[in-house]
Amino acid sequence: MCGIVGAVAQRNVQGILLEGLKRLEYRGYDSAGMAIRAGDGRLQRCRALGKVAALEDKLVAAPLAGHSGIAHTRWATHGRPSEANAHPHQSGERLAVVHNGIIENHEALRDELETDGYSFASETDTEVVAHLLEREARRGDLLGAVQRVVARLDGAYALGVIHADEPDVVIGARKGSPLVVGVGIEEAFLASDPLALLRVTDRFIYLEEGDVVRLAAGGEITILDAAGTPVTREIQTFEHGDGAASKGEYRHFMLKEIHEQPAVIAAALEGRLGDRSVLVESFGPRAETLFAGVRQIHLVACGTSYHAGLVARYWLERYAGVPVQVEVASEYRYRQVVVPEGTLFVTLSQSGETADTLAALRFAKQRGYLGSLAICNVPGSSLVRESDLALMTQAGPEIGVASTKAFTTQLTALMLLTLALGRVRGQDPDEQANLVEALRGLPGLVRRVLTLDSAIEALATAFGEKHHALFLGRGAHFPIALEGALKLKEISYIHAEAYPAGELKHGPLALVDSEMPVISVAPNDELLDKLKSNLQEVRARGGELFVFADDEVGLAEEEGVHVLRLPHVHEALAPILYTLPLQLLSYHVAVLKGTDVDQPRNLAKSVTVE
Ligand code: AGP
Repeated sequence: MCGIVGAVAQRNVQGILLEGLKRLEYRGYDSAGMAIRAGDGRLQRCRALGKVAALEDKLVAAPLAGHSGIAHTRWATHGRPSEANAHPHQSGERLAVVHNGIIENHEALRDELETDGYSFASETDTEVVAHLLEREARRGDLLGAVQRVVARLDGAYALGVIHADEPDVVIGARKGSPLVVGVGIEEAFLASDPLALLRVTDRFIYLEEGDVVRLAAGGEITILDAAGTPVTREIQTFEHGDGAASKGEYRHFMLKEIHEQPAVIAAALEGRLGDRSVLVESFGPRAETLFAGVRQIHLVACGTSYHAGLVARYWLERYAGVPVQVEVASEYRYRQVVVPEGTLFVTLSQSGETADTLAALRFAKQRGYLGSLAICNVPGSSLVRESDLALMTQAGPEIGVASTKAFTTQLTALMLLTLALGRVRGQDPDEQANLVEALRGLPGLVRRVLTLDSAIEALATAFGEKHHALFLGRGAHFPIALEGALKLKEISYIHAEAYPAGELKHGPLALVDSEMPVISVAPNDELLDKLKSNLQEVRARGGELFVFADDEVGLAEEEGVHVLRLPHVHEALAPILYTLPLQLLSYHVAVLKGTDVDQPRNLAKSVTVE
C-alpha cells in the first residue's frame, strides 16, 4: 500500500527520503517519487514507474538537494500505475503533495477546480488536493491552507505537503490513514510507518485522527488537533530495534520471519503465564471486570488474521464455553448486526491499520457492545488506540507481505484470551494448568518443526509445474488449511482451495486427479480417524497426498502418499504447530517458481484502503 516519507533536516534530505522509501518497499507499490525544495525556492521533483531502484537510478543521474522534502511509494487505486500518476503531485511549480488513502469526493472537487481554471495532469484523486492547497495557500500560510482543505475532504488521507514559499517546512495531516512524526535532533520527519525512519530516529509521535502537523527547521514540531487547538502528543520510543529492517542471513524476509517464530511466540507468552493459569491482569487493569461480563464474542478481521479468528472460535467455545461469531471485516461493517447483551467485540490485525477492520471497530462502537479488545502487533496503531483493551502479539515488525509470525503469535494471544476467559468463567483449573504447561513447551516444539525445512523443500519440487492445489483439515485445522491455501496462492500464484475434509465428497472431490496435489494436516486428535477416511477418498481417485502428521499417527508412506512427521503436541496447540510446515511449503514452492516472495504482485502489506 502507499507509503509516505517527509523530512526537514539540517542536511540534504534526498538520502533520508530515499532510504525511507526503500524501507517502505515491503508494503507493496507500483511507482515512487520525491519532491525537494531547493535552497533558491524551486521545487524539484523526480518520479519513476516500478521499483524504488528505478527512482534511485534517476536520482543518481540528476540528484535533488535541499533541506525539506516529501516522498512516496504508490499503490494504484485511482488511475493505472504510471509516472504521471505517481506522487508527489504538483499544482503549478509552487506546491507538491503526497497522499495515502482515498478522497471519496474527488470528482465533485475536480469539477469545481476545472471550473476555476485548474487543469489536471493525472488520473488520481490526489491531484485535487494539490490544486485545492495551492489555491488556499495564496490566501495565507501553508498550515492554514492544509487545515481549510482537509475540512473539505471526504474519505481517508495521510498527507505530506511542501510549498516553494515556505523554506524548511513540511506539513502533514491524517484522517483514516496512519502517519507518524519522527523526532530527531534538531530535525523532524514524517512517515506512514515508523520503520521508514529507523535509520534517523527511534522516537515517534503517533498522530491522532484529524491532527495537522507542521515540521520546521531546528526540529520544531507543532501539532493542531481536529478542532485546530495546539496539542502536545506523547513521544514514544520504538522498541523493536532496527534489526527487523534487514534480512540478516536469510534470503527473504519471509524465511527470516518463519524462523523467528520460536522467539516471538516465547515473547508473546512472556509475563502472561502464572504457575498454573494465565495472568488475566496482563490484558490490562480493566480486563477482569470486562471479561466477567462476557456472554459472547464477535471476532472481526481480514485475511490471515481472519483465519486466526476462525481457529479461536474452536478454542473459546471448547475451553471457555463462550459462543463466538467470526466474520470478515469488509462484510461485517455493512451488515445490520444483532448484538446480544454482554457481547465483546474483538478485532485481530497485524498492522492495526487495516481499513476494513478499523471501520468495523468504529461501526461496532455504535452498536452497544460490552467493550472492544484489539489483538494487534503494532503498539500505537489506530486499532490499539481506539479499542478499550489491547493485547499486543509481540511478533516484532513483519516485512514479508505474507503473514507468518504475525499469525502464530495471534494464535498464541488468542489461546491466552481463551484461558483468561476460561479462568474468569470457572474453567477446570487442571485443564487450564495443562494448557499453560503446553504453552510453555510450544516455542521448543516450533523450533523442532523448523528443522524439517529441507525435507519440506524437497517436497516443494512436486509443486513446480502444478496449477492448482487442495488443502484439507478438520476441526480447528480447517482454518489452518485455509491459511495454507492463502499462503500458497499469494506468493506462488498457484490456485489453491481449502476444505473441511468431510466436505470433500460434497463437490470438490470431482477436481481430484493426478494433477491435483492434496495437502492435509493430520494431528493426533479426535477427528483423526475421520480424516484418514477422507484421505482414502482422495487416494482412490489418484490424487497425490502430502500429509503433515503427528509422530504417533500410524499413517504409512506409500506411492502417491508423502508423510512428514511432526512432534507430538497438546491437541489444542496443534493448529499453531501445523501452520509452520504449510508456511515453509509455500515459501519453497514460491522460490522454485521464482516469484517475488516478499512483495508478491498486486498485494500490499498494510491494506489502508477499503
Ligand atoms: C496474509 O498473508 C496477508 N498479509 C493478509 O491476508 C493480511 O492478513 C490481511 O490483509 C489483514 O491484515 P492485518 O492483519 O494487518 O489487519
